[in-house]
Amino acid sequence: EKGGWDSFMDKEIHEDPAAVRNTLLGRFSAQGDIVLDEVRIEPEVFRAVDKIIVVACGTASYAGMVAKYAIEHWVRIPVEVELAHEFRYRDPILTPRTLVVAISQSGETMDTLMALRHAREQGSHVLAICNTQGSSIPRESDAVLYTHAGPEVAVASTKAFVSQIVAAYLLGLYLAQVKSTLYADEIHEVVEQLKAMPDKIQWVLDNVSSTVEAAAKRLVNSRSFLFLGRHVGYPVAMEGALKLKEVAYTFTEGFAAGELKHGPIALVEEGEPVVVIVPSARGRDVLHNKVVSGIEEVKARGAFTVAVAEEGDPDAERYADVVFWRPQCPTLLSPLVDVVSLQLLALDMARLKGYDVDKPRNLAKSVTVE
Ligand code: BG6
Repeated sequence: EKGGWDSFMDKEIHEDPAAVRNTLLGRFSAQGDIVLDEVRIEPEVFRAVDKIIVVACGTASYAGMVAKYAIEHWVRIPVEVELAHEFRYRDPILTPRTLVVAISQSGETMDTLMALRHAREQGSHVLAICNTQGSSIPRESDAVLYTHAGPEVAVASTKAFVSQIVAAYLLGLYLAQVKSTLYADEIHEVVEQLKAMPDKIQWVLDNVSSTVEAAAKRLVNSRSFLFLGRHVGYPVAMEGALKLKEVAYTFTEGFAAGELKHGPIALVEEGEPVVVIVPSARGRDVLHNKVVSGIEEVKARGAFTVAVAEEGDPDAERYADVVFWRPQCPTLLSPLVDVVSLQLLALDMARLKGYDVDKPRNLAKSVTVE
């Protein structure tokens, strides 16, 4: 069943490219327009949507956080991301013009299911982004956009995460299309960029794995890790921290790089591993420079720094102790490649410690109680 891999997690990380490719499949017209035939919500309803609330737990919530940056940019409507278990207890503002997007790999997470039931009771439309055909969450939603990652067996989610980002991006582009907030040419350009991502992810698997493994060996005895990122790198940092926590039982904290000076820097001492997601130096200079100065600050306090950075970034080379390279890609799509190195890092750390990577202690693949 594991097809030659020694764990499902290893196999499933190597299926990241296919998960992205398959989730894109059959969702465009010959002209490159987004076609979501399976989504049974009328275009008029989508046109009227004035707010999106993503509800999800764990990894799926980080996919939602990534999507917020893209959807707000493309569609110009507010996107909130809420942990499903917090959602209905705060009396959220829901109207028929609110689109609630429930993201779930299993489709059976009770917290997420209860959140979507609450949203529908309040008259909002619910769209599920789900990997499991016919599961409870899509059955109880108004519409579903399936991710086609294939069955995910390892408890720690990997290929489902990248496919959730892709599905949420397709939804964002579809909304931009029906609401005419992007020109057709702009949509086609993003579609082409998305289609190029599976090869870029494969590049990471082929070229970065050995660097990651060496870093894992160097850091295996570290008691805690910090992960930081900005913009879309922020949810990637959160997801990297979660993966390492889940499978290697390492105490981790992921946070927005801008918060460093507001607290977390107090934790940095000699040898503390700090993983930094560095935005491309092209285009978004401001953020790139700010994140690089974060690396300098933790380094000055003795941190062991790992950068995830664009190929050839001279600052990453200069300031980081180790660099996991990413091939050039648009900023909004960079989480699809950056997370892959962090998935591999968690896998390698857990393996070196001799843990069961597929069935980490205390965790279940899907939590069907509230
Ligand atoms: C958990 C799993 O408890 O549920 C995580 O261990 C997962 O890996 C989370 O991210 C949400 O699950 P789902 O199936 O709703 O995406």
